[in-house]
Amino acid sequence: MDSAGVSTDLTGRFAGKVLFATGGGSGLGASTARRFVAEGGQAAVVDLDAARAQAVADDLDGSIALGCDVSDERSVGDAVRETHERLGRIDCVLNSAGYVKFTPIEELSLDEWNALLAVHLTGTFLVCKATLPVLRAAGGGSIVNLASVAALLARPNLAAYAAAKGGIISFSRQLAVDAAADNVRVNVLAPGSVRTPMTADVYGEGQAPHAIQARLAEPEEIASAACFLLSDDSSFFTAATLVADGGATAL
Ligand SMILES: NC(=O)c1ccc[n+]([C@@H]2O[C@H](COP(=O)([O-])OP(=O)(O)OC[C@H]3O[C@@H](n4cnc5c(N)ncnc54)[C@H](O)[C@@H]3O)[C@@H](O)[C@H]2O)c1
Repeated sequence: MDSAGVSTDLTGRFAGKVLFATGGGSGLGASTARRFVAEGGQAAVVDLDAARAQAVADDLDGSIALGCDVSDERSVGDAVRETHERLGRIDCVLNSAGYVKFTPIEELSLDEWNALLAVHLTGTFLVCKATLPVLRAAGGGSIVNLASVAALLARPNLAAYAAAKGGIISFSRQLAVDAAADNVRVNVLAPGSVRTPMTADVYGEGQAPHAIQARLAEPEEIASAACFLLSDDSSFFTAATLVADGGATAL
C-alpha cells in the first residue's frame, strides 16, 4: 500500500509495454509513469520542462526523458519518433500536460484563451495524431486523455479550461470510433481536485470544495485509475469518461 492506501502490488500488467506520458515531469503524469514502470513497463517521460522530466525518468528503470511542447506539431513529432527509436514501440499514451488559470470571462484575453486551448485541446489532438500510427503498428493500444470535472460542472472563472476539457471529452469519443478497427481504445479520465503542483496555489493545504469525500485526492489515487484505463483490465472500455472526483459531481 502507498501513503494514500492504494495497492501497489507489482502485477507486471505492463511488462514489455511502453508509455508515452505528456506532463510526465510532474503531478498526475509523473505519478502514472511511476506506477506504469512499477508494474513492469517503460515510460517516455515527456514534458515542456525537460529537467523536470529527466528528474522523474532518472528513477524509472529503462525509461527516457524528452523535452517537448505538446502544442507544437514538430516538437510532438520529434518526441514520438525519438521514443519509437529508443524504446522500440509505444503501446500506451497519457495526455496529462497542462495548467490551470482562473480568469473572469470579461478579462480573458484572446491570447490567454488560445494558449490554454493550445496546450490542453490541441496538444491532446497532436499527440493522439502522432502516436496513433505507432499504436496501430503495435497491434493496438490504449490512450488516456486527462479532462477534469470542470468539463462536467461549472466553476467560477474557469471558462477556457472548462471549454478545453469539454473539447477533450468530445474529441476522445470521436477518436475512439476512428481508432476502434485497429484495436486502439481511447478513454478520458476526469479527476476532481488532486494535490499536485498545479493546484498548490488554488487549494494550498486546504480542503477540496464540493466533494462527498471532502479532501484532495493524492496523485497516486488518480494514477491507479489511469493505469486501469491504460491496461487490459479495462478491455471493454472505450469512448468512456471515468470520473474520479470523491463524489464532487454528485453534489
Ligand atoms: N490537479 C488537479 O486537481 C487536476 C484535476 C483535474 C484535471 N487535472 C488535469 O490533469 C493534468 C495534469 O495536471 P497536474 O495536476 O498533474 O499538473 P502539474 O502542473 O503537476 O503537471 C503538469 C505538467 O505539464 C507540463 N506542461 C505544461 N504545458 C506543457 C506543454 N505545452 N507541453 C508539455 N508539457 C507541458 C508542465 O511542465 C507540468 O510538468 C492536466 O491536464 C490537468 O488539467 C488536474
